[in-house]
Amino acid sequence: MSDPKQPRRPLRSANSYGKRDKDGFIHRSWMKNQGLPDHVFDGRPVIGICNTWSEITPCNGNLRELAEYVKRGVWEAGGLPLEFPAMSLGETQMRPTAMLFRNLLAMEVEESIRANPIDGVVLLGGCDKTTPAQIMGAASVNLPTMVVSSGPMLNGKFQGRNIGSGTDVWKYSEAVRAGEMSIENFIAAEGGMSRSRGVCMTMGTASTVSNLTEAMGLCLPYNGSLPAVDARRQALSHLTGGRIVELVRQDVRLADILTREALENAIVVNAAIGGSTNAVVHLLAIAGRLGIDLTLDDFDRLSRNVPLLVDLMPSGRFLMEDFHYAGGLPAVMGRLRERLHTGAVTVSGVTLGDQIGEGECYNDEVIRPLDRPVNDHSGIWVLKGNLCPRGALIKPSAASPELMEHTGRAVVFESIEDYKERIDDPTLDVDEHSVLVLKGCGPKGYPGMPEVGNMALPKKLLERGVRDMLRISDARMSGTAFGSVILHVAPESSAGGPLAVVRDGDEIVFSGRQRTLSLNISDAELAQRLDQWQQERPKPTYTRGYAKLYIDTVLQADEGVDLDFLRGASGDQVDRESH
Ligand code: FES
Repeated sequence: MSDPKQPRRPLRSANSYGKRDKDGFIHRSWMKNQGLPDHVFDGRPVIGICNTWSEITPCNGNLRELAEYVKRGVWEAGGLPLEFPAMSLGETQMRPTAMLFRNLLAMEVEESIRANPIDGVVLLGGCDKTTPAQIMGAASVNLPTMVVSSGPMLNGKFQGRNIGSGTDVWKYSEAVRAGEMSIENFIAAEGGMSRSRGVCMTMGTASTVSNLTEAMGLCLPYNGSLPAVDARRQALSHLTGGRIVELVRQDVRLADILTREALENAIVVNAAIGGSTNAVVHLLAIAGRLGIDLTLDDFDRLSRNVPLLVDLMPSGRFLMEDFHYAGGLPAVMGRLRERLHTGAVTVSGVTLGDQIGEGECYNDEVIRPLDRPVNDHSGIWVLKGNLCPRGALIKPSAASPELMEHTGRAVVFESIEDYKERIDDPTLDVDEHSVLVLKGCGPKGYPGMPEVGNMALPKKLLERGVRDMLRISDARMSGTAFGSVILHVAPESSAGGPLAVVRDGDEIVFSGRQRTLSLNISDAELAQRLDQWQQERPKPTYTRGYAKLYIDTVLQADEGVDLDFLRGASGDQVDRESH
């Protein structure tokens, strides 16, 4: 019988630490300046811990501590843990938008893993872009890989009630502009909203991604929902450290887990949890790294008729703490069992079906039974039409049912600055039937495709009690946001998509039922306008550095907004020595 402690294949790290020559001396000797004794270079698995901890990414503030628990598990299982930093992306802090840097972090993670003598990696991320970027980078190397997320903050509290990250910012901001809330109360809510370490505690992008990571089998159960400050997240980190050593010994690689079936499971789960629209660009980008042909149509097809089971903000009432105490993702997946590929392999060493187990639910209000969903509309609807030839999205669970079939006149903003300057102008020609159109906010245009698609409504309409309007842009929106917001229009306006030539007063026709979005002008008129746009095409504002590389090579929203030359994999082999 084979020794379970013996790796199935020669370890990658042996090429550096296993040599008894000048190269081996150099690799080991400098590592020993950290107090590592001889015997830790005895051929044991070396585990990289890729940490996006940063004080300017407050959502990842507990990751330095969690790394210590991962290390405990690695040591205990007979591995050697080595932590390394990676660029951190704080969604609420970075300009012009953290999304501009997702691909930069992905490149850094990929090259850090490839260049260093490690056999397996644990990715420590949390805030919106960090985890997708880390998975993208790790996918292009394909070592054994696991994820530990920072976990959600405790529920927000203000004036005796629960408030949700992001979701209540948008609500309170509109209330101030409508004259229904004082600025003093608005500021007072800040401390109550973010009262522990961790990520947004609504079903925003961070919690969406950590739960989809769980659905894809890349982490241990409950990684998606355990509060950041719950001691059981430390225990989960410890167990992850032990498990990654086993995965290295068994040579279970990322691509063995992250299959098309795993991605399809993530799409179904995203619909049932009311997950973020941002999941679309992240899953498409991850699939692109793995050579899996995932398309927008897969999102519409797989999430069609999946009931919205999780009653969390922004689509519902509760928050992540409530979700965890109700049973978390295993409870949701237990109810979705028939729609999932339950035979998919997970990093736990059992199938997804076994991992779900009974999937017991402890609160049917938070996680609804199949016959009593929160909303019949769920998932991501993918729209087509002459205004979005390569697609656009709407999240129906966050939209108003009465706007799901709508025809209205366009009120056009040529840029985010134009929008900010004119939206509250009392003379703006707009009413509740108008369609707000924002240009210049796509991947190339902004650059970075920021979360501005959920444009705040005109003040004069808010004062009249209007709370939702149809809005269209090539931007994204925060996973914590809500409204009848059509996003990710592709091609974007700055790439010459039809959105670029919409004019004030044009009629726009949206049919949710038919999944169509059209500009009601003739084909000839549209072609003539697009021709004219090409002749007057504006010059990009960034002419150097990473932003230029990004603008020159970024793919459109329907392809995941990765850089074109980063799709695919380089693998883990680097033959040349450094000396
Ligand atoms: Fe970091 Fe929401 S802003 S997770």
